[in-house]
Amino acid sequence: MKVPVIKKEKQFAFIEDEPITPNGTDVLIEVRNVGICGSDIHYWDIGQPEGLILGHEFSGLVLDPGNRKDLKIKDRVTALPISPCNTCPACKSGNVQYCEKTWSNAVGLSSTYKGAFSKLIKVRPDMVVKIPNNVSFEHAALTEPLAVSLHATNLVNITKNDKVLVIGAGIIGIACAMFAKNKKASLVSVSETNIKRAKKAVSLQVVDKYYDATKEDLQENILKDTTYGYDVVFECCGTSKAITSAIQAVRPGGTIILVGVSTFPTTIPTSLLVTKEVTTKGSIAYTKKEFEDCLNLISKKKVLTDELIDKVITIDKVQDAFEQLTSKDNNAIKILIDQTKK
Ligand SMILES: NC(=O)c1ccc[n+]([C@@H]2O[C@H](COP(=O)([O-])OP(=O)(O)OC[C@H]3O[C@@H](n4cnc5c(N)ncnc54)[C@H](O)[C@@H]3O)[C@@H](O)[C@H]2O)c1
Ligand SMILES: [Zn+2]
Ligand SMILES: [Zn+2]
Repeated sequence: MKVPVIKKEKQFAFIEDEPITPNGTDVLIEVRNVGICGSDIHYWDIGQPEGLILGHEFSGLVLDPGNRKDLKIKDRVTALPISPCNTCPACKSGNVQYCEKTWSNAVGLSSTYKGAFSKLIKVRPDMVVKIPNNVSFEHAALTEPLAVSLHATNLVNITKNDKVLVIGAGIIGIACAMFAKNKKASLVSVSETNIKRAKKAVSLQVVDKYYDATKEDLQENILKDTTYGYDVVFECCGTSKAITSAIQAVRPGGTIILVGVSTFPTTIPTSLLVTKEVTTKGSIAYTKKEFEDCLNLISKKKVLTDELIDKVITIDKVQDAFEQLTSKDNNAIKILIDQTKK
C-alpha cells in the first residue's frame, strides 16, 4: 500500500506504507475520510519535515479498540489529533491545546503518530470520540477544522453590536465568520487576496461583505464600514501582510485573535498595537469539550457541512489537490480524501 510523504518543496513522493500492529493501548483506525488543512499546506510548501505522513482531520472505523473498553471493532470514530501530557499545569486546567507536549506527538503533524493520508493509523485512546449515527464520515472529518474556529470565537466575547472582520477565507476563516454570525455580530466581513474564495464566503452567507486584499485602498475601504475600525478581527492566514492588515483594521481598544500559523518569524507594526492598545490573543486548536461540541453541532445541523466540501478525491490525486488549494484561481475551500476508494 503506497502512501504520500513530504518529499521537498511543494512535492509529495509515494512510498510503501509500514504496517501497524495493535499495542493494546492505542486505538487502531481504518481511515474513511481525511481533510486537507491549511497547516498541511504550510508543511508541503516548505517541504519539511521530509518523510512526514500528513492527515489530522479524519474519520474511520475502529479496527482494534486498544485499551478503550467502551469501543468495539467497526465503531465509527473521529479523534483529536493532539497528544497532551495530562499532567502539566495547562492540561490540569483543561487547556490541553497549549500543553507543551500536545504537538510533538500529534497525529499527522509529527513522526510519532503517522497521519491519515495513510489508510491505517493508531490514535491515543483518550482522544478518540464516537461519531453520532446521523453524522457521515465526510462530515465527521470536518469536526477538527470547525473546532479550531469554535475555539477561536470562544476566546472573545462577541455581542450583537460588534463588527467582526476575518482575514483569510479558507475553511478556518469561513468557520470563524460562521460562528461570529451565530453570535449575532452586527457586521461580519472578510478580507481576501483570492476573490473567488471571498465571493464564496458571501454566497455561503457567513459574511455580509468582502474586501479585496490585493487593492491599495484596502485599509480605506475597511474603515468606511466602521467608525474607527473593527471591534474584533480574526487573523486566519498567518502572513506578515495579513497580520498587518488585522492590526490596521482593528479599532483602538479592539481585539485581534491570531489563528493563522506562520512557519517563520514575521514582521508586524508593533507600534500600532501599542498605540491602539489592542488586545492580541493567540488561538490554538480546541479543548476536548469544544471538539465534542462541534461534533454535536454537526449532528444537530447547526453548522455548514456539505457547503464546505468542494470535492472528495482518491489519495493518488493528492498532489493535484494541494496545487489546486494554493491556486489563486480556485475557490475550493476543503478537499477531502476518501481512503476507501482507489
Ligand atoms: N491556530 C490553530 O489552531 C490553527 C488550526 C488550523 C489551521 N491554522 C492556520 O490557520 C490558517 C488558515 O487555515 P486554512 O486551512 O483556512 O488555510 P487556507 O490557506 O485555506 O486559507 C488562508 C486564506 O488566506 C488568504 N490570504 C492570503 N494572504 C492574505 C492577505 N494578505 N489578506 C487576506 N487574505 C489572505 C488566502 O488566499 C487563503 O484563502 C493557516 O495559517 C493554518 O495553518 C491554525
Ligand atoms: Zn487542520
Ligand atoms: Zn500537558
